[in-house]
Amino acid sequence: MHHLNLIDAIGRTPLVELRNCSPKPEVRFFAKLEGGNPTGSLKDRIVRAMLLEAERDGRLKPGDTVVEASTGNTGIALAMIGRALRYDVRIVTPENVFPEIPRALEVYGAAVEWVPAEAGVRRAIEVAKERAAQEGWLLLDQFGNPANVQAHYDTTGPEILADLPQVDVFIAGLGTGGTLMGVGRRLKEANPQAQIIAVEPHPGTQLQGLKSLADGFVPPILDLNLLDGKILVRSHHAFRATAELMRRESIFAGISSGAVLHAALKVTQRLDSGNVVLLFADSGWKYLGTNLWTSPPKPGEGEELDDTIWW
Ligand SMILES: Cc1ncc(COP(=O)(O)O)c(C=O)c1O
Repeated sequence: MHHLNLIDAIGRTPLVELRNCSPKPEVRFFAKLEGGNPTGSLKDRIVRAMLLEAERDGRLKPGDTVVEASTGNTGIALAMIGRALRYDVRIVTPENVFPEIPRALEVYGAAVEWVPAEAGVRRAIEVAKERAAQEGWLLLDQFGNPANVQAHYDTTGPEILADLPQVDVFIAGLGTGGTLMGVGRRLKEANPQAQIIAVEPHPGTQLQGLKSLADGFVPPILDLNLLDGKILVRSHHAFRATAELMRRESIFAGISSGAVLHAALKVTQRLDSGNVVLLFADSGWKYLGTNLWTSPPKPGEGEELDDTIWW
């Protein structure tokens, strides 16, 4: 089968068993590899859903401008899909994102507006809102847009169940909460006992794409009642687990995937058996500027990374 265009090729990513990571033979780990999407992350799914919905209800017309705050994946997904659908794209982003991100945005033809590093993604969200109101642009609003959750309910969740009908635990990073809400709801419909576990950066630490609820901003689309637990992960643990993924499974994934693997190892301590699905949100390319694969932090080392801003 061929696809009519690149947007059509979003999703249907592989689910791969991690046969060398689980410490218990009766606990099986399966990873959903979202790096297989056209721009290399899960965000292709939600951007497609949000744009197509805005087109359907007439909020978006040919030649319009779309604006969004993003520290990486959503911005790149919007730049690609906006370009393909002929919209102008503007991304508001903090100055301390990895340099690969604004470069990729430029390649895809999106305009970038910076906010100071210390103002962070919260300020970027405010600026994107202000610009949308001033200029009459469409704000995509991934943190508040129900189409974000719906995209995962409609695609990511059913894909996982088609490949693995019995899911006992699902673990994903918490950014907007869209993945956890959409996939979580779908998996619990299939198995009400399924445990949905969120991965957050340890308060005071930063992990690309993930946010701490302790910073006081709870995304409007997030319903904490759907979660069965959350695990706080420090940056150096995420870095080390990302390198372990390459060493043990030959998987080149992003840092939040390492955080998810670290969390899965913690969950397994309390589990005798079961299928654990780990959501790996992106591939490793954007993080090559770190030396996490060539010299990963050793056990007991790297505490200082906890204070570093990595997104
Ligand atoms: C690398 C990475 N991991 C995980 C997430 C979390 O996904 P969600 O926004 O669905 O909670 C994001 C999203 O921002 C991300 O960019």
